[in-house]
Amino acid sequence: MSMRYLTFALTKGRLANQTMDLLSRAGITCKEMEDKDTRKLIFVNEELKMKFFLAKGPDVPTYVEYGAADIGIVGKDTLMEEGRNLFEVLDLGFGKCRMCVCGPQSSAEMLKHHELIRVATKYPAIAKDYFYNTKHQTVEIIKLNGSIELAPIVGLSEVIVDIVETGSTLKANGLVVLEEICPLSARMVVNQVSMRMENERIRDLILKLSTLLQDAQ
Ligand code: PRP
Repeated sequence: MSMRYLTFALTKGRLANQTMDLLSRAGITCKEMEDKDTRKLIFVNEELKMKFFLAKGPDVPTYVEYGAADIGIVGKDTLMEEGRNLFEVLDLGFGKCRMCVCGPQSSAEMLKHHELIRVATKYPAIAKDYFYNTKHQTVEIIKLNGSIELAPIVGLSEVIVDIVETGSTLKANGLVVLEEICPLSARMVVNQVSMRMENERIRDLILKLSTLLQDAQ
């Protein structure tokens, strides 16, 4: 019987490296991917009938929803922001951080009194959901693409909604966590059709990985 390829979309960068480390402990390796200087975009393990490609975080759920990849590894922040139709099957436990409302300490009062503040963020959907649906607070959301901590410093916004990992970026810029929205980590997601068509292979993989993750605790 000829098996079809199982395709993985990985988030480029640190998440992809940690994912390959975890997969290798489950016996899934990809020699082609170890060459750091390669310009190739897609990597194959012929024996296992698996393919791997690297994409920008926000594109990973897109590839998986459309079935261009069966499986994706992506941060919970990106999943929440993109709101795609997928199965989230596993918390991989790495890439741990928090989504927070941050700003100068002086913005705390404005937040508390539900003043009409400006919120700068790379995550407008998460920010909107939090302020409108959880806090029932009207705010103005300003979308930025990076270095979000700059916004309150230069007076673009009163607060930001951003990822906090070690807190060192905040600290270096005189900002603090004002409210915590939710914890984050890397997740494994599966295309809804693949889940049915490749059920045995995918279930087997989930089981292997979750056993490894439990043993590591
Ligand atoms: C992320 C995030 C914070 C920082 C948090 O930015 O947006 O700026 O990391 O990490 P820390 O709490 O350990 O300091 P990233 O480096 O991904 O780049 P970006 O500013 O371009 O989004």
